[in-house]
Amino acid sequence: MGILNKHGIIERNGTLLMVLSLLVVTIGGLVEIVPLFYLQNTIEDVEGMRPYTPLELAGRDIYIREGCYVCHSQMIRPIRDEVERYGHYSLAAESQYDHPFQWGSKRTGPDLARVGGRYSDAWHVAHLTDPRAVVPVSIMPTYQWMKEVPLQPDMISDVVATNAFVGTPYTQDMLDNAAADVMTQLDPDSADVDGFLARYPDANVRNFDGLEGATEMDALIAYLQVLGTMVDFSTFEPEENR
Ligand code: HEC
Repeated sequence: MGILNKHGIIERNGTLLMVLSLLVVTIGGLVEIVPLFYLQNTIEDVEGMRPYTPLELAGRDIYIREGCYVCHSQMIRPIRDEVERYGHYSLAAESQYDHPFQWGSKRTGPDLARVGGRYSDAWHVAHLTDPRAVVPVSIMPTYQWMKEVPLQPDMISDVVATNAFVGTPYTQDMLDNAAADVMTQLDPDSADVDGFLARYPDANVRNFDGLEGATEMDALIAYLQVLGTMVDFSTFEPEENR
């Protein structure tokens, strides 16, 4: 059948076969690789998104270390029952500073993408100390020991630097102040609160666990309380509607 019968010519000529194979692989490669160079165009800038504060970042590391993601997702899908239960569906931009992201797919417990501000700090302390004290049927493990584990601001400073290395836009000012900012965020009366809020607009500044000293409980609650709160959805409009 015309041209289709002529493949024998190519199959019997090794050099021609190789050249044509290379051509096909090149075209396939270009089709797959070139769009990746324009990936930046597909990420929509959303007002309000900022890198995590050093304390929140430390909390995020604890969240990952403890495997909270094994039972909790952080991704509200654009499906009616999810949006009614958890709030506005998750935007790609909301996890743009997550290395790695915590979307997950397993929901033994509720999705946590918008848990920030839903409960008081005291509720979180009580819940993490003993989930059954506030939700009698809960099967969540206890994490009461986090109140006793002090944070290490110098180590957190290294974590911030590592996140800057992989692309989170931490400024030199943020990097220089990272260790100090761990303590500043916990104390509304500290000298550098204004500087801290200039670096991290609208961050929560308070003693999260109500105890003295910077503990893992502080960091984890600081992280939980910021989840899903950076974008103001009363004014948010997707780019295609703007
Ligand atoms: C074994 C599974 C499991 C693990 C691990 C787990 N959780 Fe939970 N979590 C649950 C379940 C089930 C609930 C719902 C009952 C309740 O509120 O305790 C829940 C509820 C919550 C809530 C309340 C959410 C809401 O909207 O009411 C928060 C916050 C939370 N978990 C945080 C965490 C954090 C932080 C960690 C890790 C330190 C963690 N969980 C680890 C199962 C788990």
